[in-house]
Amino acid sequence: MLKLRGATVTRWSSSLGRELRLLDGVDWDVAAGEHWVILGPNGAGKTTLMHLAGAMAQPSAGTVEVLGSTLGRIDIRTLRESIGFVDARLARSLRGNYTGVQTVMTGAFNTIILQARRLTPEHETRARELMGLVSALDLAERRFEDCSQGERQRLLLARALMAEPRLLLLDEPASGLDLPGREGLVAALVSLARDRPELPTVTVTHHLEEIAPSTTHALLLRGGRVLAAGPVAEVLTSERVSDCFGVPVEVSGRRGRWAAAVEHQPG
Ligand SMILES: Nc1ncnc2c1ncn2[C@@H]1O[C@H](COP(=O)(O)OP(=O)(O)OP(=O)(O)O)[C@@H](O)[C@H]1O
Ligand SMILES: [Mg+2]
Repeated sequence: MLKLRGATVTRWSSSLGRELRLLDGVDWDVAAGEHWVILGPNGAGKTTLMHLAGAMAQPSAGTVEVLGSTLGRIDIRTLRESIGFVDARLARSLRGNYTGVQTVMTGAFNTIILQARRLTPEHETRARELMGLVSALDLAERRFEDCSQGERQRLLLARALMAEPRLLLLDEPASGLDLPGREGLVAALVSLARDRPELPTVTVTHHLEEIAPSTTHALLLRGGRVLAAGPVAEVLTSERVSDCFGVPVEVSGRRGRWAAAVEHQPG
């Protein structure tokens, strides 16, 4: 579903007068049915990596294969139609006065404006089905701008599923959510993994507590480089996570849920 080899992204920094490597030689494979979490400090390159995975940017060097197509060799617009993407920018750009079900239906053609004339009753049936999957059916008639952050995130998840994506990418979907909001999102991801066992997902997060128990793999990124990637229990060790964030962290995992505690030295 995703295959990156030596993927490198560089940008010219006029303030520094040199090239910056936002991603540096990333090798990464995501197979069908895998659920990845990406962790790393601010500026590690997580969003840059998601933009490659979402065919929203091309590598400066190396190769990126998304859903079997190599970026740079194909029309990325058609490829993007097969990818569900949720990030903070999307939440801001959607119209607040749409109802929950209308918001979800904008995902049918992945547009910001509801293409009412192209919509069929089947679209609405499907939107409501997906809202049921993420426990958002009670939001069908509520205006998007009146929904809480957590409710909005669940609607955006349903929206991202509207066009039947073959890959789902979520960049910090739990940011700004309180405990019930976060748990609602985690539950939605678990239901999704059960309902669509083949659909691979990649979720960027800052907090181990936000990792859904359906997560199968983890990737740690620091300074544009992959520190570790593989089965979640092998990657999320105290040593590796401490290395990644540059602070001593004690990681604990129980029944698929994860937590991190930083040890503060007195004095
Ligand atoms: N167009 C650009 N030109 C120069 N630098 C850029 C550009 N885009 C991103 N960067 C820099 O690249 C680095 C990686 O950015 P990216 O957004 O991928 O980080 P991130 O891991 O998602 O961070 P965060 O946790 O804060 O979201 C950052 O230092 C950022 O300032
Ligand atoms: Mg980011």
